[in-house]
Amino acid sequence: MTNPIEAVRLADPYPGYAALVAERPFAFDPAVGAWVAADAAAVRAVLGSAALRVRPVAEPVPAGIVGTAAGEVFGDLVRMTDGDLQRRLKGVVAEALGNTDPARAAGLAAEQTRAVLSAGGDVPFEELMFAVPARVVAGLCGLDADGSAQAARLIGDFVQCIPALATPEQQRAAALAAARLRELLGPGVEHAEAAGNGLLAALVRAARDASWTRTAPLLANAVGFLSQTYDATAGLIGNTLLALTREETPKSPSAREAFVREVARHDAPIQNTRRFAAEPFRHGAAEVAPGEQVLVLLAAANRDPAANPDPHSFRPGREEPAVFTFGAAAHRCPGEDLAVAMAGAVVGTLLDSGFDPARLPSGPFGPAEVTYRPLANARIPVL
Ligand code: HEM
Repeated sequence: MTNPIEAVRLADPYPGYAALVAERPFAFDPAVGAWVAADAAAVRAVLGSAALRVRPVAEPVPAGIVGTAAGEVFGDLVRMTDGDLQRRLKGVVAEALGNTDPARAAGLAAEQTRAVLSAGGDVPFEELMFAVPARVVAGLCGLDADGSAQAARLIGDFVQCIPALATPEQQRAAALAAARLRELLGPGVEHAEAAGNGLLAALVRAARDASWTRTAPLLANAVGFLSQTYDATAGLIGNTLLALTREETPKSPSAREAFVREVARHDAPIQNTRRFAAEPFRHGAAEVAPGEQVLVLLAAANRDPAANPDPHSFRPGREEPAVFTFGAAAHRCPGEDLAVAMAGAVVGTLLDSGFDPARLPSGPFGPAEVTYRPLANARIPVL
């Protein structure tokens, strides 16, 4: 059976995931050194359990970045904490993102895409996938063009400290990037109310309404907006472009949105996440002991026939699909609508410029092999 971590970058990981869903929906995998949750029921149960945490109890912040700016940011991210702090901050973060108009993000993404394409020559896919969404979110945070471009470059360095296997060199670069990102975004948090109606102003307003007084966690989560955007939205754009090589091109804005949402389910840009047992967790006959890890296969659960009828077909506009790509329960992603809006606008603007998807390698289920970045949870094609 395929190793579910290597599956992330296989041309077609889905038969392997389907076998896990059917035969080993929740089981310990010695090759991974973790329990693997594959079917929708197990993924829901794991993500909904308070016994399972987003970080190992003994290492809330990766040891290599403790005491650095990267460690300080990491330790305050809603994504990386549990319990009361997470619940309160999550309310603030989700309200700020909920007050941000996806149409505005789409408009900025279209503008950025046109600017990138105006240089002519080969389509710079990497820039469209990674830099454009990061610049858009930086712009929503109130940074000007120069600051947004800097933030987009820096966030690429910061996210390197997140994987468990980050090298000391990557951790050092992440620490420098975190310090610089705080300098860039700091004034916007300090003077947010004066700055008006951007994402940081919304964040500060939501914090005040929740009687939240500490600024550092707000600033950390502003950096978090960029880091959560970066790989995930790049994967969504890349996987949407690949889907266009095998599916009918959607024409209207609403058809494009439905297409992107089905890509998120069918070929998830974030394929898995992890949990760490702080207390015993039982699912069926299985018992996860404190200290053990669970690998949560979001991309496999999306294709569980018990969750979505005919799950392997690509069908934009499914009625109430069960989509696990954005997580579930306490840590569910509050950025889904923004991500879908940005990806739809980047891809739509590229198509409107006359780009023909047939020029891409056809994958992941077509004849030409597509390669993927060597990442443990984000599925990002190299285009
Ligand atoms: C295609 C793009 C995206 C995907 C697939 C995605 C996926 C996810 C997933 C799976 C989680 C939960 C992880 C877990 O529970 O272990 C998450 C959390 C989060 N995402 Fe997203 N995300 C995307 C884009 C964005 C964007 C654009 C933003 C904001 C600008 C964002 C903000 C967040 C935040 C703040 C969290 C932490 C929530 C919490 O821990 O309570 N995401 N995302």
